[in-house]
Amino acid sequence: MLFYSLFLATTVSACARDFSLAKRHTHRQPITKRNEEWPPVLSEHETVLFNAFDNVTIDEWSDYYGHQNKLAGLGKEAAQWTADRWTENGFEAHLNEYHVYLSYPLKQELSVTWANGTREDINLQEEAVEGDDVTGREDNQPTFHGYSASGIATAEYIYVGQGSIADFERLQELGVEFGGKIALIRYGGLFRGLKVKNAQDHGAIGAIIFTDPGDDGEYTVANGYEAYPDGPARHPESVQKGSCLFLSTCPGDPTAPGYPSHDGVERAAVDDVTPQIPSIPISYAAAQPLLAALDGHGHTPDEVNRTVWSGALEAEYSTGPAPGVTLTLENEMEEKIAPVWNVIATLNATDTEETIVIGNHRDTWMIGGNGDPNSGSAILVELTKAFNALLETGWKPKRNIVLASWDAEEYGLVGSAEWVEDNINWLTETAVAYLNIDVAPEIEKVSHAHEPGINSTSDYSRNSERHR
Ligand SMILES: *[C@@H]1O[C@H](CO)[C@@H](O)[C@H](O)[C@H]1NC(C)=O
Ligand SMILES: *[C@@H]1O[C@H](CO)[C@@H](O)[C@H](O)[C@H]1NC(C)=O
Ligand SMILES: *[C@@H]1O[C@H](CO)[C@@H](O)[C@H](O)[C@H]1NC(C)=O
Ligand SMILES: *[C@@H]1O[C@H](CO)[C@@H](O)[C@H](O)[C@H]1NC(C)=O
Ligand SMILES: *[C@@H]1O[C@H](CO)[C@@H](O)[C@H](O)[C@H]1NC(C)=O
Ligand SMILES: [Zn+2]
Repeated sequence: MLFYSLFLATTVSACARDFSLAKRHTHRQPITKRNEEWPPVLSEHETVLFNAFDNVTIDEWSDYYGHQNKLAGLGKEAAQWTADRWTENGFEAHLNEYHVYLSYPLKQELSVTWANGTREDINLQEEAVEGDDVTGREDNQPTFHGYSASGIATAEYIYVGQGSIADFERLQELGVEFGGKIALIRYGGLFRGLKVKNAQDHGAIGAIIFTDPGDDGEYTVANGYEAYPDGPARHPESVQKGSCLFLSTCPGDPTAPGYPSHDGVERAAVDDVTPQIPSIPISYAAAQPLLAALDGHGHTPDEVNRTVWSGALEAEYSTGPAPGVTLTLENEMEEKIAPVWNVIATLNATDTEETIVIGNHRDTWMIGGNGDPNSGSAILVELTKAFNALLETGWKPKRNIVLASWDAEEYGLVGSAEWVEDNINWLTETAVAYLNIDVAPEIEKVSHAHEPGINSTSDYSRNSERHR
């Protein structure tokens, strides 16, 4: 059974963008390597900048961002706080508002009915973690997929690996039939929205995406590491939230393709660029029994012979379906056009022909965490402090410096895309570089905290967020 409750407007061709490069001016200096030496020898101005960075204030900013509700549409307080800090440090900062399409969770439920007829609810929530004060907060959102389709699906399910087109094609070659089934997909590889798209395109009526500890490299409980908060291994109940926009088709507000989402603009239908089948994310603790129930059914990993197929959970990773074992997936979302707030600040140049943009998003799915993007947001505040120290020496930037704290990035680069669409002519003419700082880990922690990141989505915290 499956209900759709998406916008029923007629389809328009989404993303009809024509950012012609014809206007691009040609007076820019060629890009050259400035300095071959390592470690780099700092100029006088660079030394002032460098010495102005202070880990105590960075810690303070990080702590602030780590305790704020910054889900797109709910993060005005953190936007204003950011603008205030930047303004204190000599930048002209303002809130830059757009009215964009967002969706929020109303009801998410998953249950399994075993072959013997017993029905069992699957836990979808991340319980509070002792010692991590934000995890138990009432204003934290439940786990969900942004832009997912509302609906109820009851069906047998099939494990499809990472859910790439090649995975689905291989399974079709083996005679697996997806029509009317639910796809059980592991995270990793392609963007999650495209996993749901592939499932939908192959006839599945629902999609469940789980995190597999096999993507965490060495840092797993099975390898003897303790789970967060006691160690670097992933918490078994942690769930990766995220957007299901068909990102490669249409980044930015899907209801305003190619033009800025000001209040009252014409809205396009989103059916072509968001899923039509319901989907939810689940933890590895929730996924394990579902995978194990497929043991002995369908095709074995050897028969499937696909890369990144088997993970680290106790299961064969066979395709299934297991006859008579069904899932009931219910996903109810609230869709709305709501305000979001970029913070934009400018430091005027002596020569205003060229502009450098330095940015990071501020929005998060959850309250907490200190990796992506809170560490980058903290560094942007500290950077304004450092520029202020430089300004006090009488220095002026040669090129315009624009700082940007984007909102609604997690939903699909929404805040930044709208700003670019709003400023496309000026940017085309003057922008020479964009530097993005989502994650700025403390130096001492780099070697320690970053290794799991090579394979995993873990920020060395029970971090529910992740994009791309
Ligand atoms: C700042 O760095 C110093 C020196 O490495 C260290 O002792 C101190 O704990 C750090 N403080 C914070 C808040 O990170
Ligand atoms: C039904 O099957 C499930 C899964 O194998 C099992 O956990 C449960 O105990 C069984 N219930 C009964 C009543 O046999
Ligand atoms: C990442 O995963 C691959 C394949 O599972 C493994 O060979 C590699 O050692 C892992 N890397 C790290 C840093 O854990
Ligand atoms: C598995 O796939 C690889 C690469 O696609 C292929 O070379 C190999 O022959 C396949 N193995 C089997 C047993 O089919
Ligand atoms: C920077 O330039 C803009 C646009 O030219 C102007 O509106 C603004 O007042 C300038 N700011 C300062 C501090 O000079
Ligand atoms: Zn990020």
